[in-house]
Amino acid sequence: MYIMEGLSKNNQGMLTLGGISLKDIAKKYGTPAYVMDEDTIVKNACVYRDATKKYYDGESLILYASKAFSCKYIYKLVSELGLGTDVVSGGELYTALKAGMPAEKIYFHGNNKTPDEIKLAVDNNVGCFVVDNITELNRINDYAKSVNKTVDIAFRIKPGVEAHTHEFIMTGQIDSKFGVALETGEAEEAYILASKMSNINIVGVHCHIGSQIFDFQPFESAVETMLSFVVLLKEKHNIIVSQLNLGGGYGIKYTSQDAHVPYEMFISKISDKINKVCEENNLSKPMLLMEPGRSIVGAAGLTLYTVGNVKNIPNVRTYVSIDGGMSDNPRYILYNAEYEAKLVSNPDGQADETVTIAGKCCESGDIIIKDAKMPKISEGDLLAVLSTGAYNYSMSSNYNRIPRPPVVFVSGGKDKVVIERESYDDILKNDKD
Ligand code: LLP
Repeated sequence: MYIMEGLSKNNQGMLTLGGISLKDIAKKYGTPAYVMDEDTIVKNACVYRDATKKYYDGESLILYASKAFSCKYIYKLVSELGLGTDVVSGGELYTALKAGMPAEKIYFHGNNKTPDEIKLAVDNNVGCFVVDNITELNRINDYAKSVNKTVDIAFRIKPGVEAHTHEFIMTGQIDSKFGVALETGEAEEAYILASKMSNINIVGVHCHIGSQIFDFQPFESAVETMLSFVVLLKEKHNIIVSQLNLGGGYGIKYTSQDAHVPYEMFISKISDKINKVCEENNLSKPMLLMEPGRSIVGAAGLTLYTVGNVKNIPNVRTYVSIDGGMSDNPRYILYNAEYEAKLVSNPDGQADETVTIAGKCCESGDIIIKDAKMPKISEGDLLAVLSTGAYNYSMSSNYNRIPRPPVVFVSGGKDKVVIERESYDDILKNDKD
């Protein structure tokens, strides 16, 4: 009945997540706080892992796209489930390594990997570089040569597939800062060049067409385009590609209006498509990789806030100010993202008031939900903003020197902190007197 599977209501009528009253969580940890249901995360990760095994005839590996939510605990959790991870920076890579993620299951992305990041990745033997451009390819080859190693790579390819999503999170089209283009011959040139390099071993092709996608069709087009390219590399240049990485991008429910995405059905269709194209082209089945981020953690998490004041401007608008804002959730200000909120003490109350839920940052655009339909809200009420598990903590900031909230995981009636609340002293940590 709620958009997040782990949400429910206890017999006092209070909203619960993972079997724990959110009122108790707020009392124990304070607000704002991110609360994430570990069982939902595990379930989502297993859907990808098990469906690829079930429907795809070849080998497969799911890489959790950790830009969605990164900390030591999540890398540990997904690696115990047999997943690898996609990292896009030295910081994510370092965290994954420190959490014990096996290096060979780390795929290193990013459109401008610095020399230091390349060194960190090569020195630690990451599984694969997803190379963005030729400058980077040369840098990787030079460094690998200097330490006498050979590095496995895939190129990030712009397949020219347009996905219907926000333009800031659309990435597969030619006007994108990511990757090499197919239609101009840039990708073909890149593979020819890489095949001649002394310390580079080509293993794969990669594409990521965008995020928060609800249709299956763009993924199907991406499979066709990418496999035609694999055939071309083999037939024209004798370059053998053994890994097909289709990136992430599956949508989640942010509001009741969003459609439910049947991930398992998507995977079965994608698998059928690959199986079919490979058979038609006498191609051996590549290892299939997928990089879901949002769809693993997004609908597992919520943010708990306390209402500080309610300001009614007659005939204009009612602002409900909360004790967090764009510093913990910048997605409204960045993408006009929509969210749904629930009153913790009255989650199913008659939603007959229209209010704008605003943050506490010194910025007029600091809004979490514009024109939310809510039951009557008063100061001191606890508010849960739903489906904030992805791209919230990971995109949070210390704007206005606001400390980051803690991240609390709940499961089977138990709670634990996986990231502590920042203190004012944490904020001063790098300041000189
Ligand atoms: N793989 C690659 C190469 C990616 O670039 C991304 C996302 C993913 C996988 C994971 O995509 P997902 O399954 O999470 O949709 N900050 C934006 C989203 C940016 C996504 C960037 N790349 C947001 O808050 O919507």
